[in-house]
Amino acid sequence: MSLDPEKAVLPSRQQLFDFHGVSMIPIFTDNWENVQNFQARPDDILIATYPKAGTTWVSQILDLLYFGQTERQKTIPIFERVPFLEIAVPSLVSGKDLADKLTTTPRLIKTHFPVQFVPKSFWEQNCKIVYVARNAKDNMVSFFHFDRMNMAHPDPGDWSNYIHRFMEGKMVFGSWYDHVNGWWKKKQTYSNIHYMFYEDMIEDTEREIDKLCSFLSLSRSADEKKMIAGGVQFDNMKKNEMTNYSTFSILDFKISPFMRKGKVGDWKNHFTVAQNEVFDEDYKKKMKDPTLQFRTEI
Ligand code: A3P
Repeated sequence: MSLDPEKAVLPSRQQLFDFHGVSMIPIFTDNWENVQNFQARPDDILIATYPKAGTTWVSQILDLLYFGQTERQKTIPIFERVPFLEIAVPSLVSGKDLADKLTTTPRLIKTHFPVQFVPKSFWEQNCKIVYVARNAKDNMVSFFHFDRMNMAHPDPGDWSNYIHRFMEGKMVFGSWYDHVNGWWKKKQTYSNIHYMFYEDMIEDTEREIDKLCSFLSLSRSADEKKMIAGGVQFDNMKKNEMTNYSTFSILDFKISPFMRKGKVGDWKNHFTVAQNEVFDEDYKKKMKDPTLQFRTEI
């Protein structure tokens, strides 16, 4: 019943298609009806992100905050402790079924859905949602390397074309711009969203853990929080087999690691000056809300 990588039988790289106005691939839409009918509980915590924004990092933090450093941390990979709701890889238990079978309280559940795709029971149950956003340039770089090594995703092609695809929203889970803006707008009407930024976590992990604790009404000692912040630093998560995805076979680690660099500003090693100018010009047109600001360096 696990996501045993040995059992993964995957089609070759899947192609993007338009799904209700969002670019998607079948492994994230094939289970649509069941996912939409998912029955959330009031104490479920949904971790929502655009892919490569720091999902695994915040998942590990929440798992440690709720359940501490127990056997489960040492034996169960993060993708089973925090099921990926919409994933449905042929021959493997779907994320939805894994979520249904979780025995923890609360259940921590991951999604990359844009806000309009979230199953309605999460809203009806007034679930707490932690959204993590990451600046577009680093997010894109991370996604590029992930698409190279994820054998279910469309081939990223070369970098210069990839930038254009990103700007057009032709990515798995659609447009970054729509995703971060859609969730930001939702926060104005649904108060149980904690919107956080990857760059802030890099700058001061302990401070961000404090904010998470306030949002989740968790009281943890200063020592505990310090220990968690230390334990989830990049190098520790990179060498930890239960968090580094090394046991997940659809990823080809010969091409790139999952825990790649974990930095703010790696985009500077990828963008040419000309590419950066084109990107910035386009960004200004798409990101009109002055209240949503990202940092591309810290
Ligand atoms: P890079 O490719 O830039 O290194 P997700 O979990 O949403 O797929 O995001 C993966 C990105 O988060 C990768 O970015 C990964 O290295 C980074 N990441 C994961 N754990 C991290 C940590 N503990 N500290 C900093 N970055 C981390």
